[in-house]
Amino acid sequence: ILKIMKDRKGILLAGGSGTRLMPLTSSVNKHLLPIYDKPMIFYSLSILMLAGINEILIITRKEDLSLFNDLLGDGSRFGINLSYEVQDNPNGIAEAFLIGEKFIGKSDVCLMLGDNIFYGGQLSEKLHSAMLRKKGASIFAYEVMDPSRFGVVSFDKNNKIDSIEEKPSQPKSNYAITGLYFYDNNVIDYAKEIRPSKRGELEITSINEIYLSEESLFVEIMGRGFTWLDTGTFDSLVEASNFISIMQRQQGFNIACLEEISFNNGWISKDNLIELVSNKDSSYHNYIRNIILKK
Ligand code: TTP
Repeated sequence: ILKIMKDRKGILLAGGSGTRLMPLTSSVNKHLLPIYDKPMIFYSLSILMLAGINEILIITRKEDLSLFNDLLGDGSRFGINLSYEVQDNPNGIAEAFLIGEKFIGKSDVCLMLGDNIFYGGQLSEKLHSAMLRKKGASIFAYEVMDPSRFGVVSFDKNNKIDSIEEKPSQPKSNYAITGLYFYDNNVIDYAKEIRPSKRGELEITSINEIYLSEESLFVEIMGRGFTWLDTGTFDSLVEASNFISIMQRQQGFNIACLEEISFNNGWISKDNLIELVSNKDSSYHNYIRNIILKK
């Protein structure tokens, strides 16, 4: 399977203005804020890595580049290949495919928003079925109480996609579209076709609408056993931290430990792990120490 997956690249979007989290975000990029014991971006990066993607472009603001570089570098520590591009203004999520055009080249691409957290069983299976789809687009929907804050997908009687709407005031369903998207290479052309919405953004919903009209949009439902958190507000930030802390303590498994995922994918060795934890003493690193002992 990993061989088939080789030609899909990942984009991690970590720009934006974070206005809802001011003044937390006045001097610190939202995606570097802590969610319990790790910077927020670890969670989204872990999803791309779980999908088997090891070539990843991080898009962020110019003034934040050096901080991301300090944290993640070229990715070799995690057995991945990271590169960086700048988004000058928050012109919308779909701008990622214009900024990332050269990086994507002829590959397929997976876009992950840096402020989304996913957790639940069968995540890897769902990711792999999206990875294996050679043509079209795959998106992930999750049932929420307040769908009008999100892109919303609705279905007809035969469970076929009926509509996709961006932040509708009267949503046709409770299914929010989450911040994880898989596209074939046509996405670059589609991103060039679409025009900014009334709020002045290149909307990811416009891209999804094109795939829908071509009958090549697929939706995977993340069921009720699943957790999807978007961490863009004060309350969701605290809730996400509490959630991660509770889950990790309950089972003793660390969520979004990048070194562990990389090791399980065969991208770094036990010796690499030993080197990574030397002289480090946080519970994050002690967790890695335990992985080494168990193997
Ligand atoms: P949003 O939550 O829509 O926007 P934001 O992060 O700027 O926050 P706020 O609404 O409080 O101002 O963004 C969703 C994700 O996409 C988030 O991880 C930031 C990222 N993003 C970009 O990188 N560039 C963009 O142009 C936009 C709109 C979002």
